[in-house]
Amino acid sequence: MADIQLEVRDLRKTFHPGLFESDVEVLKGLSFEVRRGEIFGFLGPNGAGKTTTIKAITEIIFPDSGSIRVCGLPHTDLEAKRRLGFMTESPYIYRHLTGREFLRFCGELLGMQRSGLEERISRVLDEVAMDAHADRKMGAYSKGMLQRLALAQALLGEPDLLVLDEPLSGLDPVGRRDVRDIILQQAAAGTTVFFSSHIIPDVETICDRVAIIVEGRVRAVGSVAELMSDEAECSEATFVGAVPADLRTPLLASHVGSDASWARVSSAHRDALIQELADRGARLVSLNPVRSNLEDLLMRHYEGEGS
Ligand SMILES: Nc1ncnc2c1ncn2[C@@H]1O[C@H](COP(=O)(O)OP(=O)(O)O)[C@@H](O)[C@H]1O
Ligand SMILES: [Mg+2]
Repeated sequence: MADIQLEVRDLRKTFHPGLFESDVEVLKGLSFEVRRGEIFGFLGPNGAGKTTTIKAITEIIFPDSGSIRVCGLPHTDLEAKRRLGFMTESPYIYRHLTGREFLRFCGELLGMQRSGLEERISRVLDEVAMDAHADRKMGAYSKGMLQRLALAQALLGEPDLLVLDEPLSGLDPVGRRDVRDIILQQAAAGTTVFFSSHIIPDVETICDRVAIIVEGRVRAVGSVAELMSDEAECSEATFVGAVPADLRTPLLASHVGSDASWARVSSAHRDALIQELADRGARLVSLNPVRSNLEDLLMRHYEGEGS
C-alpha cells in the first residue's frame, strides 16, 4: 500500500493565450507529496498556480511535463480517478434541480449503480448536514449550502483522496466553520484531504502539513510548526540614542518612534545589535524574543527572491 496518496513531480505548464499575447509560464517545476490520512494545505496568493495544479491533477488540463500519481497510480488511470473526489473553485449551480436531484445526476455520471445510489446520497447529505435542505431547489441555497452540496458531490464515490479547490473561500464565519468541520470529519474517517487556499488561518488551524506555492513553485513544505521553527528565532529591540538607519547590523524591520526606536533582528544578529548599540553609546530599553507567525513567513516568500 502506498503511503503517498498524491505525488506531483516537476510539473510544468505554459499557457499560450494567442498570437498577440505573450506566453504565461504558470507552473515552473512544481513538486510535492501528500501522505495517507493527512490534511494537506496548498497555500499561496491569487495567481500562484493552485487551480492550474488541481486542474492537472484532475486531468482537466494537460501539463507540458512532469508526473502525477494518485493513490500510487498514474493519475490517468481509471482506478485513480475512481479513488479521487474533487470539488472545483466555483461549483456550477443547476438552479432548477434540488440538491438530491443534483447528486443523483452526479452519481449517474460517475456510473454508480441505481440500487445503492439513493442510500449513498442520503449518507453524504447527512455527512454535510444538508439532509433538511435536500429537496429544495439549488437556486434558493445560500453560498454555504452550495459549498456543502458541492462537498457532498465530491464525497459521493467514497474517495480515498479529496481534492478541494478553495473550499473555504467566499463563506461567512459559520459557513467556514461548517466546511472546516466536514474536512476534519472526513480526515478522522481516514480520507486524505488536499485543499488549496489563499487564507492563512484556514490552513494554519486544520492542516497537518502545508506547501507554500508562489509563482508556480513550491517554496516550503512542512507542518506549520516546522515551517515556523526557523522563524521563531528573532528578537525585537527598543533603544534610545541611535537611529536604525545608521546601524550596520542587518535588521529585519525597524521603526523610529518619538521616544525610542524599534528594530527586529534574526537570532543570528542579536548579539551584534547589542554590541553595536553599546559601541554607539545608545541605551537598550528592552529586548524580547518574538515568534513570527505564518503570515510573516508567507510575506517573506511572497515578496521574495526568485530562488
Ligand atoms: N487558460 C489560461 N490561459 C492563460 N493564462 C492562464 C490560464 N489559466 C490560468 N492562467 C494564469 O495562470 C496563473 C495562475 O492561475 P491559477 O492557477 O488560477 O492561480 P491560483 O488558483 O493560485 O489563483 C494566473 O496568472 C492566470 O491568469
Ligand atoms: Mg485558484
